[in-house]
Amino acid sequence: MDTATLTRPAVLILLGPPGAGKGTQARMLEDRFGLVQLSTGDLLREAVAQGTEAGKAAKAVMEAGELVSDEIVINILRDRLKAPDVSRGVILDGFPRTTMQAEALDHLLAETGQKIDAAISLEVDDAAMVERISGRYTCANCGEGYHDSFKTPEVDGVCDECGGTEMKRRADDKAETVASRLEAYHAQTAPLIGYYRDRGVLQEVDAMKPIKDVAGTVQSLTADVIS
Ligand code: AP5
Repeated sequence: MDTATLTRPAVLILLGPPGAGKGTQARMLEDRFGLVQLSTGDLLREAVAQGTEAGKAAKAVMEAGELVSDEIVINILRDRLKAPDVSRGVILDGFPRTTMQAEALDHLLAETGQKIDAAISLEVDDAAMVERISGRYTCANCGEGYHDSFKTPEVDGVCDECGGTEMKRRADDKAETVASRLEAYHAQTAPLIGYYRDRGVLQEVDAMKPIKDVAGTVQSLTADVIS
C-alpha cells in the first residue's frame, strides 16, 4: 500500500461505459492506496439478493439494462458513506450516472467539508465493450474479476486472490442488455464528462490499452491528486 499520508479523505470518481474497466481499476486503487471502492452496481445487486424494497424496485430495471431511479441510488450511497470504513477515502465506481446524482453528490460532500479530487473518465470504443462484458466472470467468494481472454487466473478455475473455485457471471451481461446499458450511458452519463471538466477535476484516460497500462496511468494521476 502507498505510504503517502492523507490530510483528508480522498474522493475519486471512475466514469466510463459498461465494461470500461471501472471495477478492475477500483480494486487496484483500493489495494494501492487503502481507499474503499463504492460500486452502486454492487450495492444494488446486494439489495436485490437481500430482497429489500430498493432491491425489489431495482431488479427488473437492472435486468433491462436501464438506470435505477436517482432517489433509490442516492439513498443507498448516502447510507453507505456513513459507514466508518470510508474514513480514508472512496473510489466511486458507477456513481454518479446522471446530472441529478452528480448534484446530490456535491451536496453530500459539502455537508462533510469534502471535495472531489478527480473524476477519471475511462475512454473506450463501444465495439470493444461487448467483448469485454461477455467474457467477464468473477470469483463468487471474494469478487475478484476475470476475463476469458484478457485476464485469466494462473490456475484455470482457481481464484488468484483467495483460492475460491466457484466463479459466476452477471445476469445483465447478455449482448442485448449490453446494448441498452451503452445507450443509457451515452444518453444520461456521458454528459457528466462536461460537468466535471467545467469543475476542473476531469482526467481522461485511454482505457483501450492493456489493464496494467491503464492501471499505471490511473494510479499515477491518483497519487498526484491525493497527496
Ligand atoms: P454496474 O455494476 O455499475 O455496471 P456497469 O457500469 O455496466 O459497469 P460494469 O461493471 O459492467 O463494467 P466495469 O467498467 O466495472 O468493467 P470491469 O472492470 O468489470 O451497473 C449495473 C446496473 O446497475 C446498471 O445497468 C444500472 O441498472 C444499475 N446502476 C448501477 N449504478 C447506478 C447508478 N449510479 N444509477 C442508476 N442505476 C445504476 O471490466 C469488464 C471486463 O473487461 C472484465 O472481465 C475485465 O477483466 C476486462 N477488462 C477491464 N479492463 C480491461 C482492459 N483495459 N483491457 C482488456 N480487458 C479489460
